[in-house]
Amino acid sequence: MMEKIREAVAYIQSVCDVQPSVGIVLGSGLGSFTKQIKIIKEIPYADIPHFPVSTVEGHSGKLILGELNGKKLVAMAGRFHYYEGYSAQQVVFPIRVMKFLGIQTLLLSNAAGGVEPSLKVGDLMIINDHISQLVPNPLIGKNEKELGTRFPDMSEPYKKGLISLMKKIAVENGIDVKEGVYVAVTGPTFETRAEYKMILAMGGDAVGMSTVPEAITAVHMGIPVFAMSVITDVGIRDEENAITHEEVLEAAKAAEPNFIRLFSELIGRL
Ligand code: HPA
Repeated sequence: MMEKIREAVAYIQSVCDVQPSVGIVLGSGLGSFTKQIKIIKEIPYADIPHFPVSTVEGHSGKLILGELNGKKLVAMAGRFHYYEGYSAQQVVFPIRVMKFLGIQTLLLSNAAGGVEPSLKVGDLMIINDHISQLVPNPLIGKNEKELGTRFPDMSEPYKKGLISLMKKIAVENGIDVKEGVYVAVTGPTFETRAEYKMILAMGGDAVGMSTVPEAITAVHMGIPVFAMSVITDVGIRDEENAITHEEVLEAAKAAEPNFIRLFSELIGRL
C-alpha cells in the first residue's frame, strides 16, 4: 500500500507543486464550496495512479489544489462511498494520499439524516463523536506501521479544539449550529422507520453513508479531524412521504451558504 500511496503522491506533485496544509472533503450538494478556492490545479481522479475509478456516470470527481484565506489546501470534489462497490480500503485511499501531500488538518462534510428529535432539515451539525460498528473498518487488514498503530485510540476522533473554534466562529457569524453523534451506515438504501429508531436508541443524532471511514483513517495517521453534517431529512416522522436523493441534494444546497461561510472561516483560522 505504501508503494501505491507514494506513486499517487509523486504523480500529484509532478503536475502541481502546491504543499497543502489542509485537506477538505465536500459532501453531497456542497460542491459549490470550490468556488471559494483560488484554484491552482484540478486533477481528475481518473488521472491519479491507484485512485478508485468512479462508478457514477457523468461526474468522476477531481482533486483541487489551491488557496483559501491564506491557506494552501487540497479539496476532494466528490468522494468514494462503500455502497458504490469499493472496498473500505479503497474508499479511504485519497485520505492517505492527502497525508503524504502534507496536510495537518482534515475537514469532512456530508449530508445526513437527522434522528435526534430537535434536528430539522437545513440544520448544521458539528460531529462530536461517531458510531462505526455498522460499517466495515478501513483499517482491517495488515497494519502499515508507517501510517499508524495497530490499535488506534478513538477517544477523541473529532478534535475538541477544532469543535470549540467552530462554535466560536458560528456565534460570531450569527449562525446556529447543533452538535451530535453521527452513525455510519453502508447505504445505499435510506433507513427503514425501524432502523431510524434503532439509530436513535443506540446513541445517534444523525445518520449517513460516509465520513466515518475517512475520519478513522486520519486519526490512525495522527491527523486532527473536524466534521460537519448538513441535515437534509429527518428519519423519525409521522408523515407518509418518502426520502429521495433529490430532496437530500436540495436541502444541502439550501444550507450551503452558511456551510461555506463557516468552513472558509475555519480554514483561515487554522
Ligand atoms: N440516511 C442515510 N444517509 C443519508 C440520509 C439518511 O437519512 N440523508 C442523507 N444521507
